[in-house]
Amino acid sequence: MNRTWWKDKVVYQIYPKSFYDTNGDGIGDLQGIIEKMPYLQDLGVDVLWICPFYRSPMADNGYDISDYYRIDPQFGTDADVPQLIAAADACQIKIIIDLVINHTSEAHPWFQAALADPTGEFGRYYYIREGQNGQPPTNWRALFGGNAWEPIRDTGLYYLHAFGKEQPDLNWENPIVREKLYEMVNWWLDQGIAGFRIDAITFIKKNLDFPVLEPDQPDGLALIQKASLNQPGIEIFLNELKARTFLPHNCLTVAEAPGVELEDLPKYVGEDGFFSMIFDFSLADIDIKDDVWHVGSGWTVKDFRDHFYKLMIETQKIGWNANYFENHDQPRALNKYFPPEDIGFPTATLLATLLMLSRGTPYIYQGQELGMVNTPVDSMVEYNDLSTYDKYQRAIDAGLSHDAAMAKMFARSRDNARFPFPWDASKNGGFTTGQPWLKLNPNYTEINAASQMNNDQSIRAFYKHLIALRKNSPWRETIVDGYFAVYPVTDEQIIAFTMQKGQQQLLTLINFQNKAGQVPVPDYFDTLVSNNYPQLNRVSCQVKLLPYQAIVLAN
Ligand code: NOJ
Ligand code: CA
Repeated sequence: MNRTWWKDKVVYQIYPKSFYDTNGDGIGDLQGIIEKMPYLQDLGVDVLWICPFYRSPMADNGYDISDYYRIDPQFGTDADVPQLIAAADACQIKIIIDLVINHTSEAHPWFQAALADPTGEFGRYYYIREGQNGQPPTNWRALFGGNAWEPIRDTGLYYLHAFGKEQPDLNWENPIVREKLYEMVNWWLDQGIAGFRIDAITFIKKNLDFPVLEPDQPDGLALIQKASLNQPGIEIFLNELKARTFLPHNCLTVAEAPGVELEDLPKYVGEDGFFSMIFDFSLADIDIKDDVWHVGSGWTVKDFRDHFYKLMIETQKIGWNANYFENHDQPRALNKYFPPEDIGFPTATLLATLLMLSRGTPYIYQGQELGMVNTPVDSMVEYNDLSTYDKYQRAIDAGLSHDAAMAKMFARSRDNARFPFPWDASKNGGFTTGQPWLKLNPNYTEINAASQMNNDQSIRAFYKHLIALRKNSPWRETIVDGYFAVYPVTDEQIIAFTMQKGQQQLLTLINFQNKAGQVPVPDYFDTLVSNNYPQLNRVSCQVKLLPYQAIVLAN
């Protein structure tokens, strides 16, 4: 198989817990994905990225793994996996799964053994250090709040966790740990999966001096990222991981890689890079500062455009992009990027056009193809996500009122992406016959898959049209393999770029504003490839764009 077989693929991300429940326990399952395979095939996607379904106490919904080799009973049985792979295969769909190897669950037998004997063999599987004067070894703040060192009973010892305290970090310095992980990765590849989305991988190398950092908040702590994100020496681990597992299997790898600066991109996604592609965070987190949900960034469309252009141009110099606007850690993109009164068909299809015409592999998150939006909640108990609880408390500690903090959670909670998928207008959106683990967005009677499947003017139909353009159209090769160039326009609210391959050129115009815009376009762009409005206003070399109009022209 071609080394870059994944280049022309469209990826669809599934959060299994919220996709489709087949046994009425209120929790989506692997049989649910199997049952809905025709829906995915109809949409036209080629690869499914399925979030963790391994055995887990579910403190972080499966990103806390207690057994890498087994399926959690919530999601089904071990036998469901080969069935899932076969069902997907019958639809020419490949499966990639999450690889969570920065940390395990506290319930993993390795960690249980480490707790029982912190200075023994399994203690060396994790970072266990002595505290100082009754205090933790350092003042690093975990991503989900609090000190990143958790005491082990009254031993005076602490273990390190970059995320929740239920997620102890594995000690990658220990070669035995690395061997065990490679063995597991290869085992999964041998089961027939086509690759991995690799969780939090830029965290695996720590600053082994364990420095006490300058506090960056009144809590006296400092972001752990400063001592454990993309640290020097990480390349030794990542090269070894690749050589021992991914490379011999020629699999797709997409790494969650915050903290990778542009100058490091060649190491990550260049010719001999660690991964096929990485997720960049600049557009997804454009609205917040330093992962603090209650502090807005005051971003503008021009900032968005600058980030987008830079990402395209810099990655093109050396490798390939993973493009996305949504995932299971993000609120719905429509709420993030547009004022509430503007959310609708034009804005949803504008984002779709930008995603599908950008250079790189597009990732669609479940429900994005329906134009799903954030879910209003009445109280915190309607949320499940541990990070949402932490961020709420931090907002309150910072002096926000309950109502103001709730408004921030509405805008930012990760559960916005995790409220169940609405299949139809029946009770609970047809997601479950039981009590759903998270409620449905109350708008499911209008926004649901069934209503859009029967409507060729729907947002889903538009996604389908764009996917078909990438896969099966005269412009296919230019979209997938063309050369990206900014198309200069004076209006800073318009994103405009060309893709060129041989003699063929595509021009994408995205009017990212609720007012008309205008762009000079030479006559030779005479073929309309895509348009999210019925009309195209073109007068003597000027294209007049309607509010949020997104069009693609070809020569
Ligand atoms: C990133 C995952 O996407 C997120 O859902 C999870 O909470 C953290 N990594 C920790 O594994
Ligand atoms: Ca179920």
